[in-house]
Amino acid sequence: MPDTRHVAVLVGSLRKQSFSRKTARAIAALAPSSLNLEIVEIGDLPLYNEDLENASPKPAAWLAFRDRVRPAHAVLFVTPEYHRSVPGLLKNAIDVGSRPYGQSVWSGKPCGVISVSPGPIGAFGANHHIRQSFVFLDMPAMQQPETYIGSAASLFDEQGALTNDKTREILQTFITAFDRFVTRHA
Ligand code: FNR
Repeated sequence: MPDTRHVAVLVGSLRKQSFSRKTARAIAALAPSSLNLEIVEIGDLPLYNEDLENASPKPAAWLAFRDRVRPAHAVLFVTPEYHRSVPGLLKNAIDVGSRPYGQSVWSGKPCGVISVSPGPIGAFGANHHIRQSFVFLDMPAMQQPETYIGSAASLFDEQGALTNDKTREILQTFITAFDRFVTRHA
């Protein structure tokens, strides 16, 4: 059993002041020493296109992304909500990682979801919509605690640090449970 399990963190926003990214950074800092959370960037991935999959060479960014995620023990998705679903950015990364057919980097990897919104319902729609993909991707997804971060504009200071104690407690509870979940699915 490795001492530290590596968690690839995918953030569904490219915005410089993204609340989702701030949340991802905050939870990485709260993780126990048994988990190492690292954000894997997805902003430079060309849109998935099967023609490019069959081309030579394939897009270098796709190959680098797959190589980065493949060795991870687990995946954490931290996502905003766009129209009650996940942003295309994140869906594209999921699609890129899922191919070539039969060589998906997601298969069997335990995962978790944290959804983030300045709105009151914490991007509930995105949180549940992404879970539909986990079924086909064969990713065991942690069910509890469900974690919807609402009112996100009021949780961070100007440097992007988390200032809300209740949210810190929620993220701490999540990452403690996720540590157990990842160990169980190792
Ligand atoms: C949004 N936003 C939004 N918020 C929400 O709670 N539910 C939604 O369905 C949507 N839909 C939506 C669509 C599009 C195209 C945009 C650009 C935005 C608002 C969204 O939550 C807000 O912009 C967040 O700040 C985005 O997350 P980051 O970038 O802060 O991580």
